Amino acid sequence: MTERIGVGMIGAGFNAQFHIRSWVSVRDADINGIFDRNTEKAQEAASLARVLNVGKPKIFNSVTEMVADPNIDAIWICSPNFTRIEVMEEIVNAVELGKGKLKGVACEKPLGRNVAEAKKMVELVKRAGLLDGYLENQLFEPTVQRGKEIIWKRGAFSAGRPYLARAAEEHGGPHSPWFWEGTLQGGGVMNDMMCHSVEVARFLLTDPAKPRTSLTPVKVTAHAENLKWQRPHYADILKNYSSGKLDYFNRPAEDYARAVVEYVDDAGEKLIVETSTSWCYVGAGLRLSMELLGPEYSMQINTLDTDLKVFFSRDVSGKAGEDLVEKQNAEIGLMPVVGNEENTYGYDVENRHMVRSFIEGKRPLENFEDGLNVTELLMTGYMSAEQEKTIAFPPPNLETFVPKVAKGEWNPRRK
Ligand SMILES: NC(=O)c1ccc[n+]([C@@H]2O[C@H](COP(=O)([O-])OP(=O)(O)OC[C@H]3O[C@@H](n4cnc5c(N)ncnc54)[C@H](O)[C@@H]3O)[C@@H](O)[C@H]2O)c1
Repeated sequence: MTERIGVGMIGAGFNAQFHIRSWVSVRDADINGIFDRNTEKAQEAASLARVLNVGKPKIFNSVTEMVADPNIDAIWICSPNFTRIEVMEEIVNAVELGKGKLKGVACEKPLGRNVAEAKKMVELVKRAGLLDGYLENQLFEPTVQRGKEIIWKRGAFSAGRPYLARAAEEHGGPHSPWFWEGTLQGGGVMNDMMCHSVEVARFLLTDPAKPRTSLTPVKVTAHAENLKWQRPHYADILKNYSSGKLDYFNRPAEDYARAVVEYVDDAGEKLIVETSTSWCYVGAGLRLSMELLGPEYSMQINTLDTDLKVFFSRDVSGKAGEDLVEKQNAEIGLMPVVGNEENTYGYDVENRHMVRSFIEGKRPLENFEDGLNVTELLMTGYMSAEQEKTIAFPPPNLETFVPKVAKGEWNPRRK
């Protein structure tokens, strides 16, 4: 008989609900538990799971209570970035007290707000003897997986390995106020979204037959800017939206960032990753784009090049929504529709991989070590942007470095 596992979610917001919706395509696991500090959110997510028939989750009052429950075998950490360490410490304490029968923990991006936090996550998971998965959904996008397979099998096999990968993630800005606050989130758009882009580009460039250590990062050159949200009109919008808490006149976070990461492979070949991210892109909605280029070939992905499009004339009116695409910006005109966002963005394939790995007692292919590597690259990116120069990797003091934006001290208009 195939073993089934019970999964508990910590945090029941936007991201957890994406995971729950993806679960209709995940076998061998049920969503058996939810813990959120906000009980209404927990109830909303639990009822979504019941409606979709992906579990009948119990709502727990604490992380410890959830770990101790015999119906919980694995935990998905989907609470905000500033709760990572406290949540992981509580899981590990409960395991060390002999509670429950946990096999593994999967954690959303970013693994930590800085290298010290990400290292702490790795240490804690090892100490508890748990399997660990790093939830970087973009690696599991069917187009990324299929594109990588084809390019390496045909193009690289015949003409030589790819040398350049580009990845970008752009939308009009995050959905919860805490994302905008550098001290809570760990940075601005570079920390929030470039974590995806650096990792998916690195993944595309890595020979499928070799480990990630076959590529060595050698230099990072990054730029961070605030292009839109520090303008008075937009800073006021953020202030009102956060009941006065966000102060983008004095304490902004970057809403635009780009980085070039230079790698060498195990044969000494130079490889380049180019990433670009923004919270100031106003198009139909979230746009993820990736490219992989080699000597005689290329591939490209753009999630807004959808096969389904709808058109609404100016006489069609209705409420603003996100029913066509994540971070949707308009309701009329010619609009792209992503048919199955959980699949397009990689959530269902990611969750199948994590579940199967935990059932088989294997470490997931994307795990906390990868999350730590991503954080190391991003922090080097912040160093580069702050010092306005290329930084050799790994730089000294990487472990203790905290970006100015994460200390509430970054303000490009005050330079
Ligand atoms: N993979 C992706 O593309 C992706 C997309 C969105 C968010 N995320 C990540 O997922 C995490 C959650 O983001 P979100 O968009 O769901 O945020 P959100 O603000 O929509 O939801 C967060 C939820 O966590 C709850 N919460 C706060 N503190 C908690 C605690 N200590 N314990 C339990 N619950 C707590 C809040 O009440 C809220 O319901 C973040 O780390 C974010 O970076 C990843």
